[in-house]
Amino acid sequence: MEDLEAREAAYLGSLTAAEAEGDERAVEAALRPKTLAEVVGQHRVREQLGLVLEAARGRGRVPDHVLLSGPPGLGKTTLAMIIAHEMTAPLRLTSGPAITHAGDLAAILSGMNDGDVLFVDEIHRMSRPAEEMLYMAMEDFRVDVVIGKGPGATAIPLEIPPFTLVGATTRAGLLPGPLRDRFGFTARLEFYDAADLDLIVHRSAGLLGVELTEDGAAEIASRSRGTPRIANRLLRRVRDYAQVKADGVVTHDVARRGLELYEVDELGLDRLDRAVIECLCRHFGGGPVGISTLAVAVGEERETVEEVAEPFLVRLGFLARTPRGRVATAAAWRHLGLDAPPQPADVPGEPTLFEE
Ligand SMILES: Nc1ncnc2c1ncn2[C@@H]1O[C@H](COP(=O)(O)OP(=O)(O)OP(=O)(O)O)[C@@H](O)[C@H]1O
Ligand SMILES: [Mg+2]
Repeated sequence: MEDLEAREAAYLGSLTAAEAEGDERAVEAALRPKTLAEVVGQHRVREQLGLVLEAARGRGRVPDHVLLSGPPGLGKTTLAMIIAHEMTAPLRLTSGPAITHAGDLAAILSGMNDGDVLFVDEIHRMSRPAEEMLYMAMEDFRVDVVIGKGPGATAIPLEIPPFTLVGATTRAGLLPGPLRDRFGFTARLEFYDAADLDLIVHRSAGLLGVELTEDGAAEIASRSRGTPRIANRLLRRVRDYAQVKADGVVTHDVARRGLELYEVDELGLDRLDRAVIECLCRHFGGGPVGISTLAVAVGEERETVEEVAEPFLVRLGFLARTPRGRVATAAAWRHLGLDAPPQPADVPGEPTLFEE
């Protein structure tokens, strides 16, 4: 896992990676909506969450614990901050990997005040003993802190003032059932449609002071893979291009030329995504081919292909995972401007999809 993340981080450089890195976090903070009303899209989640918060305010109680799940870059951290803001409560931030011992969690919990919002990012990566302590804290607002080891160990009960836990995860499936069940509300964030991404690009351009035309915004939105983080990143790169190569205004043509320079195509595929489907179609006749072979052929780690490129290709319907290997669909052949073989290798109809 650690290893995989290190590799993903090393791979970044890609404009279309959904994860944020380094300096990007500071820019993101400036672009984050601060209130629920400013959030673009995610209408259902917004309405449901709004209700949870308003009802809690009306009762003068802390809101139920909230779990935010969904792929990277869709707004989980943003919503966690908004929850605290809307409740005018202090936000305490931590993350699963930072909680390696139950004691780490006990230390955080013992410092909490009434009404605090505790945000645990990547909650699926918390250690098991900490997880168990968290169940108890969520339900009973108390935990047992064990002092000492062996027969002499004693458990000291610790009362915790009512608080709201906001957990975020990209892998809801990895959360143990008992933990998942203790959240009163789960928000599953969905990819954004073009209209919402368009609004996000306009909003960010306003905040960054970038001048942009309607069709310039639409061009960026349509290449953003349904992900606000990517939309904001493409906007910043196109802004650079507009500033250096044009008169600073992001028009349709400037956006198109800028994104071409950065190798992001009309559908938002980047160099690696295209390499994967090109290799699959040109060298392996469309597959099926094993993921390891495919990774070697494109000169990348298997995990990078599997975790970085493949999800989007599958989502686009360009690639299918079958028990015998990866297969390119007719849509992938078309996207490359190639004729699909008359006898499509395997799939199309109903491919047997693997779950992770
Ligand atoms: N609904 C939205 N409206 C406007 N901007 C948004 C929205 N959601 C996300 N963004 C923008 O996208 C950026 C990334 O969002 P955020 O950091 O909340 O994603 P995340 O789901 O926490 O990702 P990760 O899984 O990597 O932690 C934010 O800086 C924000 O500017
Ligand atoms: Mg986040």
